[in-house]
Amino acid sequence: MVQFNLPENSKITKGNYFKDTSGSKNIKKVHIYRWNPEKNENPKIDTFEVDLIKCGNKVLDILNKIKNEIDPTLTYRRSCAHGVCGSCAMNVDGVNTLSCMKSHKDINGDINIYPLPHLKVIKDLVADLSTLYRQYESIEPWLKINEKKPKAIEINQSKENRKKLDGLYECIMCACCSTSCPSYWWNGEKYLGPAVLLQAYRWIMDSRDEERKERLKTIADKFKLYRCHTIMNCTSSCPKGLNPAKAISSLKKMLATN
Ligand code: SF4
Ligand code: SF4
Ligand code: FES
Repeated sequence: MVQFNLPENSKITKGNYFKDTSGSKNIKKVHIYRWNPEKNENPKIDTFEVDLIKCGNKVLDILNKIKNEIDPTLTYRRSCAHGVCGSCAMNVDGVNTLSCMKSHKDINGDINIYPLPHLKVIKDLVADLSTLYRQYESIEPWLKINEKKPKAIEINQSKENRKKLDGLYECIMCACCSTSCPSYWWNGEKYLGPAVLLQAYRWIMDSRDEERKERLKTIADKFKLYRCHTIMNCTSSCPKGLNPAKAISSLKKMLATN
């Protein structure tokens, strides 16, 4: 039977309150989703009072400050801190974004931070991206050329053909788009989602690749591609300003006209 209520153990409860001890006049309240798989407890929301006078401008600076100075058990991913690696993607104030790019100065009032939505949670703000990465692998994101071609020869690309990859190669696979897509929420196991489809399009558009037809054939599937209903949440959530919805509609057009 279909279950419409949340299971008891997934209901979010009120967590700990960490009061500021610095006496600062510039305090921001930050509410953060916490869940520890090693404890037999429901997820909870902890609240931290953070002194913004001694804190960088980004949401990631707040998280680092909390981890370094208040609660070292707070768990989240980050690496480059410059919008390049995609690892710090999370939901800040209801919007999927990169915490290292998002300025907390743009947020009025308290800040709410959750993991990327509709994924299993590994711990605190770390969501499980293994399905998405399996899907990424399935589109074979590497250059495919005739095996018999001599390997040592450089493959040239004209400036015009190189330009066709603009707006595609910049994708950092942060998953902000896929996890804001309602179709991906409901069919995430079968629908490839905007991040992976944008990547598929990137390789299909690469003039050096010799498997365009096979690549198109692989994604021409009622679930893998056609679960996109052009809702456009993906494009509005991309922190790199890319347009996965347009890439998906270009794929559909190519299939319809090829
Ligand atoms: S346009 Fe397609 S991929 Fe983007 S949010 Fe909508 S359904 Fe998802
Ligand atoms: S298209 Fe944008 S939001 Fe989606 S994975 Fe790539 S960089 Fe992230
Ligand atoms: S830490 Fe690399 S994109 Fe944010």
